[in-house]
Amino acid sequence: MNPIEFGEKTRHDHFLMDQDVAYTNHGSYGPCPRFVYEELQRIRLEQEQNPDRWFRITKYNLYVDCVRAAAYRLDCNFEQIALIDNATAGINAILKSPLPIFTSTTGGTILCTNLAYGSVLFTIEETARERNMKIRKINIQLPIESKQAFIQQFKNELNKGDIENIRLAVIDHITSTTALLFPVDELTDLLHVHGIPVVIDGAHAPGQVNPQLSLNQLKCDFYIGTFHKWMYAARGCSFLFIRDPILASQIQPSNTSWGYRPMSFQLDIMTHFHLQFFHQGTRDESSLLTIPKAIEFADLLAGGFDRIHQYNSTLSQQAKNFLEQHWNIQGKDLFPNEMQAPYLKMILLPDLAEYKKTDDDAVRLINDLIEHYKLVAIILCINNELYVRIATQIYNRIEDYIVLADIIDRIRK
Ligand SMILES: Cc1ncc(COP(=O)(O)O)c(C=O)c1O
Repeated sequence: MNPIEFGEKTRHDHFLMDQDVAYTNHGSYGPCPRFVYEELQRIRLEQEQNPDRWFRITKYNLYVDCVRAAAYRLDCNFEQIALIDNATAGINAILKSPLPIFTSTTGGTILCTNLAYGSVLFTIEETARERNMKIRKINIQLPIESKQAFIQQFKNELNKGDIENIRLAVIDHITSTTALLFPVDELTDLLHVHGIPVVIDGAHAPGQVNPQLSLNQLKCDFYIGTFHKWMYAARGCSFLFIRDPILASQIQPSNTSWGYRPMSFQLDIMTHFHLQFFHQGTRDESSLLTIPKAIEFADLLAGGFDRIHQYNSTLSQQAKNFLEQHWNIQGKDLFPNEMQAPYLKMILLPDLAEYKKTDDDAVRLINDLIEHYKLVAIILCINNELYVRIATQIYNRIEDYIVLADIIDRIRK
């Protein structure tokens, strides 16, 4: 089978977004391909045709197949990975569970950076409050000159001492608000030298980092990622990886449910860890079960990850070059090329008379672009400047970014 032709034809034939909307924000919420969406509807229909059969029998084997597919795809063991709805659920579970790193002694510190995702920072804040812990936040200054200079900021923090009290470090793989690709291997090694367990928030990384994510090769202790951002699954499909199966058996989801004390027949096909996170009260789990179709879409229809990566990363760079030339803002990168996310780029916006350079006005502009200009684009305020974070996915083409430039130019006037 010939793979699909990327760009306009893929958008028209394989995605469901309104055709008159310019979509330059893949990654926040998907969208997922039609092929996967149809599977989602098929699963929902099957569930609806006999909810009792579904909830008591059918869903278990389907779930096991999905966990196996996820483990195979992400290169880890079946026992190390559970499916969760979203990244926020994963970070909450890790930080709020009765893991020995938290319970062996009281107090302690959580290490993080100012670039962590908002809900993750809130979770850290709430955990610290509940557990009577301190937070050590590394304030990463932008722009960053080099990868080494970035790593040095972590070293400087650790050189301040009191390392024995750090129970856990939370670092990003790709940041949301700056599209910065962290050198996670180097950072994990550095933190491990000091005996600090590492959580990687990889919400944006699976499907975007090249080569494909291998959880076996990463050395972190915990990893949270999504299938619904860059891996083509339906919205509400993410995963929690825990390297040590003993810790996996100790972790608790935010909702305590039937998986707390599962039935023995359920434990014949999956672990306690899987069941704790699968049982979350009565809910629609269909999205979690779209993983096999999402993988099929990427591998068969789209021609595989290498082909996808070639297209998305090339277009991402072209779009960045185009916008920078268009607004005459070359040389204003926030960090070097090797730290730029493959499919997400930050572009400094020209001054916009009606929008101040604040977080509030960045959000107002996002909403105005959606409501009044049929443009989906993420605007962020960094160092008192407004930036657009452009995303590229196989349905995009350079014309989408030309439309974006055109709309911003209209707003400037
Ligand atoms: C880096 C990062 N972490 C965490 C999240 C939270 O993801 P979710 O909304 O799926 O919980 C996001 C969402 O975009 C993110 O970009």
